[in-house]
Amino acid sequence: MDIDEIKKIFKYNTLDYVLKSEIGEVLVNDGHAFISKYFDTQQNILIYRYALDDVKYLIDVLQKEKTTYLIPFVHKEFVAKLEKIGLSIRSMFKGFFKFGFNDFELVNQFDFLDISESEKAALLTQKAINTSRGFFGQTKQWIEGWILGTIDDIKEIGVKNQQIIVKRDKDKIIGLICIGLYGFDKENGPTLWVRELVVDQDYQGQKIGQTLLQEGLGYGKLLNAKKAFLLVDELNNNAIHIYKKYGFCAADEDAQIDMIYDAD
Ligand SMILES: CC(C)(COP(=O)(O)OP(=O)(O)OC[C@H]1O[C@@H](n2cnc3c(N)ncnc32)[C@H](O)[C@@H]1OP(=O)(O)O)[C@@H](O)C(=O)NCCC(=O)NCCS
Repeated sequence: MDIDEIKKIFKYNTLDYVLKSEIGEVLVNDGHAFISKYFDTQQNILIYRYALDDVKYLIDVLQKEKTTYLIPFVHKEFVAKLEKIGLSIRSMFKGFFKFGFNDFELVNQFDFLDISESEKAALLTQKAINTSRGFFGQTKQWIEGWILGTIDDIKEIGVKNQQIIVKRDKDKIIGLICIGLYGFDKENGPTLWVRELVVDQDYQGQKIGQTLLQEGLGYGKLLNAKKAFLLVDELNNNAIHIYKKYGFCAADEDAQIDMIYDAD
């Protein structure tokens, strides 16, 4: 099975940015379509992937699936047909870029999360699940993996200098931003990646989110980042307001549509 060949044959595919190990079980590979399912243990969800010209081949397979599953990177042409068989849009991530950091003061004092505080940080992110579409929170293992550089995203993208900046109210962690840099070998790199930004609901609306973003961008400037990148759900107006306020602009590409079938 040569994924690059399969991608060339069909007009639509969701196989970009996918490792061979993330393909899982191949259910269809017959010249009309390629369809696979894979249980993602990090996200704890079954993931379907496809390469095809006609969505009917995917629908035939999905109608037999009775458990919860996710399809990342759904083509917008397929959304209505998949909604008809019970899927719904889980998130629509849009890329935002900020070019240059001249509008930022150099910051060189940060309160970084200590790895021993990973559980507290994870609980903070989990408290915010469902407060905005596209925000799913993180586990203790993910937080530790971000700091240690052991999670797949970091390894695949080649992220370095990853950190988590926090805000505290006495001993309590009330906000955090995960940042890291990638693209060191690029002419216009490196890029600062803003991976998570979250503020405890009880403390929102007090400009803590903005302060964290400013510090995150200051960290990027300190490490000579040339631009910053983040993904945010199109409906997350509150977060988008902050990102635009500090110089981020939406990328031209379509948003990444992820659809879910929720069996519960
Ligand atoms: C996004 C988040 C981090 C913001 O944190 P916060 O500390 O409440 O934010 P701030 O107080 O710094 O700023 C909020 C800004 O949004 C504005 N705002 C609030 N609701 C808004 C809305 N519905 N539409 C547009 N702007 C809105 C406020 O007016 C304020 O901007 P201003 O200072 O220019 O007036 C927080 O809401 C959160 O944790 N959300 C859940 C997790 C999440 O979605 N994170 C982003 C993932 S990309």
